[in-house]
Amino acid sequence: MSEPAPQKRLYIKTYGCQMNVYDSERMADVLAPLGYGMTDEPAEADLVVLNTCHIREKATEKVYSELGQLKRLKQDRPGGMTIAVAGCVAQAEGEEIMRRQPAVDLVVGPQAYHQLPELIARAHRARGERLAADFAPEEKFDALSTERRPTGVSAFLTVQEGCDKFCTFCVVPYTRGGEWSRPAEAIEAEARALAAKGVREVTLLGQNVNAYAGPDMPEGGGLAALVRRLAQIEGLDRIRYTTSHPRDMDDALIAAHAEVEALMPYLHLPVQAGSDKVLKAMNRAHTAESYLRLVERIRAARPDIALSGDFIVGFPGERDADFEATLQLIREVGYAGAFSFKYSRRPGTPAAAMPGQVPEAVKDERLQRLQALIDEQQQAFNAAQVGRTLPVLFEKAGRHPGQLVGKSPYLQAVHVTAPERMLGQIVPVKIDSAARNSLAGVLELETA
Ligand code: SAH
Ligand code: SF4
Ligand code: F3S
Repeated sequence: MSEPAPQKRLYIKTYGCQMNVYDSERMADVLAPLGYGMTDEPAEADLVVLNTCHIREKATEKVYSELGQLKRLKQDRPGGMTIAVAGCVAQAEGEEIMRRQPAVDLVVGPQAYHQLPELIARAHRARGERLAADFAPEEKFDALSTERRPTGVSAFLTVQEGCDKFCTFCVVPYTRGGEWSRPAEAIEAEARALAAKGVREVTLLGQNVNAYAGPDMPEGGGLAALVRRLAQIEGLDRIRYTTSHPRDMDDALIAAHAEVEALMPYLHLPVQAGSDKVLKAMNRAHTAESYLRLVERIRAARPDIALSGDFIVGFPGERDADFEATLQLIREVGYAGAFSFKYSRRPGTPAAAMPGQVPEAVKDERLQRLQALIDEQQQAFNAAQVGRTLPVLFEKAGRHPGQLVGKSPYLQAVHVTAPERMLGQIVPVKIDSAARNSLAGVLELETA
């Protein structure tokens, strides 16, 4: 049966983490059979979905300013426009959204996307639908078929949702609910379908992806077993996963890094801070020392692994000496890159009520110093690739004619002059220069 031609236009704007990127794609998949085709222009859209993030105050505030602009577009549009707010802000403060912005037609939490078609139909009859509160990821994934429309050679695949860790600064356990893993069989089916459509690389996603424990996996069969299973799929040459918690980095997963060729030598392993006092107040359930020992074990298994992390500066009670301990940890690890944030007070989280909130100016100064150190390490890591030959998976056309852009095993962007037919191929590239955020090189064939 052929699909109906798109008659309606859908615009989706995605904030936040990769899981939201995955969810946005799945929402587009759910809406396509209803005749919604994608547009990049909100002004042309019959349906606008904002897929939102609640992690920091700034992220949340962006949603309200975006909604203000959409309201004007909606007023100017004779055919009308349906505005839906999805994602973690929808989950956390759906009612407030409806109250603050009357132009919003419906609010839908992260576990209810499969109900979008019905919600939209209902919103057209009466405004004010709010579907957010229940955490039922199982139902969501059952209802979303494995049918996907990948747009490139690298795709995200959610395997786990939610978090039971309750770091004291974080809203995720409240917006996404408890830890829940998809059955391996469903994941494998989705991965096979992606590979059949030309996908060469999957990034397995979860808020705590290495806590993966599929209900159909044998006892103790966690992420490592899943990775080994997916590595068997013909055509799927690269596997990545994110985000990991240091606590769930078990021996089996470390061994997989040594043994599974498809598992890429890159690991995002957030530590947040380097002071044990702060780590304890954060409820991270690890120390700086245990993190460093873990990094040692991982590097013993896979010496060339590139590490990245997340850092928070200015957590309540963080003194200069605590911050220095974070810098010291960063020096000891040596990162290929990292994300770093000023602590943001989130309503309802324990840290928001802690004494010793750090002044903004101090946070600014610490963030700058931390980022300068990370930048230095990132540049050194990139520079160290010059002269090496790396397998590069070409993903898309580059900015200059005749150029392609791909990824190194270490997730660096690599710019190469190469024929278009190499898109989707993994090709040896001799790296000849490094910049802050990318590498450049030449096809090894040409240097021979
Ligand atoms: N589950 C992942 C990531 C969660 S959110 C993990 O455990 O690492 C991504 C990052 O946002 C976190 O790692 C943390 O560095 C940052 N973050 C979360 N809450 C924050 C807050 N209240 N203020 C500043 N940064 C925050
Ligand atoms: Fe948030 Fe901590 Fe859970 Fe990560 S592990 S999602 S930082 S509560
Ligand atoms: Fe943001 Fe929700 Fe992801 S709060 S970081 S979109 S899980």
